[in-house]
Amino acid sequence: MDLFESTMIGGVSARNHFIRSATAEGKATEDGFPTETIRQVYLNLARNEVGVIITSLASVADYEKSSGYQLMMDRDGLIPAYQEITETVHAEGGSIVMQLVHGSSSAQAFPEQAKILGPSSIRNPISGLVPRQMDVDDMAEVAGLFARAAVRAKRAGFDGVQIHGAHSCLLSQFLSPVFNQRTDAFGGSRENRFRFVREVYDAVRGAVGPAYPVWMKLDCTDGFENGLSTEDFLWNGEQLAMRGLDAIEVSGMRQPRVYKGAYYREAAERLAERINAPVILTGGVRSVEDMQVICAESRVQFFGMSRPFLAHPDYITRLKDKR
Ligand SMILES: Cc1cc2nc3c(=O)[nH]c(=O)nc-3n(C[C@H](O)[C@H](O)[C@H](O)COP(=O)(O)O)c2cc1C
Repeated sequence: MDLFESTMIGGVSARNHFIRSATAEGKATEDGFPTETIRQVYLNLARNEVGVIITSLASVADYEKSSGYQLMMDRDGLIPAYQEITETVHAEGGSIVMQLVHGSSSAQAFPEQAKILGPSSIRNPISGLVPRQMDVDDMAEVAGLFARAAVRAKRAGFDGVQIHGAHSCLLSQFLSPVFNQRTDAFGGSRENRFRFVREVYDAVRGAVGPAYPVWMKLDCTDGFENGLSTEDFLWNGEQLAMRGLDAIEVSGMRQPRVYKGAYYREAAERLAERINAPVILTGGVRSVEDMQVICAESRVQFFGMSRPFLAHPDYITRLKDKR
């Protein structure tokens, strides 16, 4: 397997097996439009042969924001600005997928003004924010927000969307038994905790149609002792793949303090054993030798990276040189 060969990943054409994982630039305008600085970031990545670029997280809701300068995808009026971005990347022969997020209590730039929704009204141990417990109407509304944002991304020319279901944003909170302490049909068992994520995925899929690439980023751990288990994660991934999700990026909330290579390798390999959809391994992936070993020894064939591209937008060339 040549990692530098062009390929398809989850319905998206890729110049190689390397993906730029979503990386918040914090450079959008205050009302969520992409700026020239952001266009330059993506142009630079596309010129430097990144296989697929995933944008920074773009908010689907107008009532919350994780940072003051976060991308948004909550209005049709944003579409022309994003068209400039997708045209720029496509002109360089690249592909670009938009990451869509509902952040909730994970991070809020303006918590006093934000509507902060969550599976349960429990203080977030990281941010200290306490969300309002969602009722079924809130859930239907949020699923609709994701669906409409995905349609906008498709109209703007993105090659696909990635639903953010990791890093303790709203969807990952539903999956986690620590954040989700509901006693109704949306909490408790693995099946119940998954139900809202399934509804969001189904809404997005229904809105963009069967052929449009829909990916998801999932946690293999939420970082808590009694939290999301590996078995939960594998089951969630299987369910989504069975419903037609096109690719799963594996991430998590327990990063080692000391560098240990690709720290979610085992979880990603186990998931890839169970599903046909491609699995993207992200987190600490750095060396082409390690990636080649993982490719040879498992069904994981795609690699996501964030920080390497921050330091070196030409990271792919550097990998090629080291091959
Ligand atoms: C500055 C910065 C911003 C990030 N922004 C996002 C984001 O918008 N969405 C997301 O899912 N992950 C985000 N991440 C996490 C990365 O996508 C990735 O999962 C993590 O950094 C591990 O990969 P790495 O070891 O290659 O950096 C961000 C990471 C960094 C360093």
